[in-house]
Amino acid sequence: MRYMFGHGKALLLGLAILGGTLAVGGVLVVWSGLVPISASSGHWPVTRWFLHFAMRNAVETRASGIKAPALSDPALVLKGAGHYATGCMPCHGAPGKPQSLIVQQMTPKPPLLSQRVHEWTPEQLFWIVKHGVKFTAMPAWVSLQREDEIWAVVAFLQELPRLSPERYEHLAYGERDDADAGGEAATGSLRALGEPLGPLVAHCTRCHGADGRGRGSGAFPKLAGQSETYLWTSLLAYAEGERNSGIMQPIAAELSETEMRTLAAHYAGQENAASQPASHQANADEPAAATADSASIARGRDIARRGVPGQGVPSCVDCHGPRSGPSNPHYPRLAGQYADYLALQLSLFKSETRGGTPYVRIMHSAAKGLNETQIRDLANYYSSLAPDLGHQPEAVPSE
Ligand code: HEC
Ligand code: HEC
Ligand code: HEC
Repeated sequence: MRYMFGHGKALLLGLAILGGTLAVGGVLVVWSGLVPISASSGHWPVTRWFLHFAMRNAVETRASGIKAPALSDPALVLKGAGHYATGCMPCHGAPGKPQSLIVQQMTPKPPLLSQRVHEWTPEQLFWIVKHGVKFTAMPAWVSLQREDEIWAVVAFLQELPRLSPERYEHLAYGERDDADAGGEAATGSLRALGEPLGPLVAHCTRCHGADGRGRGSGAFPKLAGQSETYLWTSLLAYAEGERNSGIMQPIAAELSETEMRTLAAHYAGQENAASQPASHQANADEPAAATADSASIARGRDIARRGVPGQGVPSCVDCHGPRSGPSNPHYPRLAGQYADYLALQLSLFKSETRGGTPYVRIMHSAAKGLNETQIRDLANYYSSLAPDLGHQPEAVPSE
């Protein structure tokens, strides 16, 4: 017993000395500046294997409590594609878009995602895109609150391996080609804006459409005919981090105030013609926003006019129309906006995830008492109105 004890002690002592020597040695190597930190030398295969092993295990553990929502909605894929082109493609490449030579000199090098996506579950992809990967260039999502946007990117990633270069181009850049082929809305407005803003608008066009009507699916809001004041104060809110969106914040943060005001004037001046069903779907494969049933619209109209007193919900028409007389330019127009977009914004207000202009608190309290059905009904109602109706007395006969 005693013999074993002495033996154990000696072993412990030996280990302590070894550990100490290694630690001191390690500090000396770091201190001497001999640690191989150059990206040019790459990783040894064993280091690469070890780092990926550690990353894979960490992601598997962290993602285990997450549950993916339904991801098959084509509007989600479209939204994710729009962001992928700005936020991911420069590092990861895309169908028909190889990685730049500069990115290829990074260590670790960002992988070509179309070859990797199948190795991960949607939940694991969600975790990686949300949190990023430390000690690599893989960034976290700009707005951690906007998990709905991160799921949109995951929905797109799942489609990525199957996309041809043409299909990717169409999803991510939209009507660019159609506009070049003579979309008057695009050429007319670009001319009006003059040279310096041309490329800026071309950027917005990818998602919001050359005509400012949001490409038909509800993934992107219509801007055409929106209040100019609301448009530019919203851009400012994104730029200053007052309104959360991992998609719009980085875009707005790069605009000067003059550019914001000019872009707002541009979109406010565009005609938001009465709802355009099939005829507006220039590209038949672009998903169309769903149409709502009339019972839901009628319930929505009721709430919009009278509110829900028992739930602390005010009426909406005084601020958002339909109404006669001038309306406050800080209150956005809702008539003719996509129902899915309106419903998403109301849910974000309800959970106070959506910030906005200095007036946003009005909406936090207005939306707090709404339940999911009422949100859907209100969204369907406002979306069903002709855009120019929003600020006139309602012509539609009541119940
Ligand atoms: C600045 C460059 C950069 C940007 C921008 C970037 N990534 Fe990455 N990403 C990386 C690097 C580097 C890795 C490798 C990390 C590693 O080896 O652990 C990576 C890894 C990944 C992985 C894990 C792939 C695998 O199998 O190891 C996914 C998924 C991913 N990125 C998705 C995205 C998405 C989606 C976006 C856009 C929202 C994005 N990345 C933006 C650099 C970038
Ligand atoms: C990658 C796609 C994408 C691009 C490019 C883009 N947007 Fe957006 N935009 C969106 C999405 C998605 C939203 C909704 C975000 C949210 O939920 O807050 C949005 C919202 C907005 C809003 C708020 C609308 C409202 O009713 O509250 C404005 C204003 C806006 N964008 C202007 C612009 C301008 C101007 C540009 C060009 C400089 C631009 N966007 C470029 C995707 C895009
Ligand atoms: C007292 C005025 C007022 C009332 C009442 C009001 N709102 Fe609003 N609403 C606003 C303002 C101001 C904003 C802009 C918030 C921001 O982004 O800063 C807004 C924004 C919105 C938006 C977002 C639009 C977009 O383009 O992103 C929706 C949707 C909306 N309101 C729906 C409603 C509904 C439904 C009701 C009734 C239950 C309602 N509002 C009641 C003032 C009001």
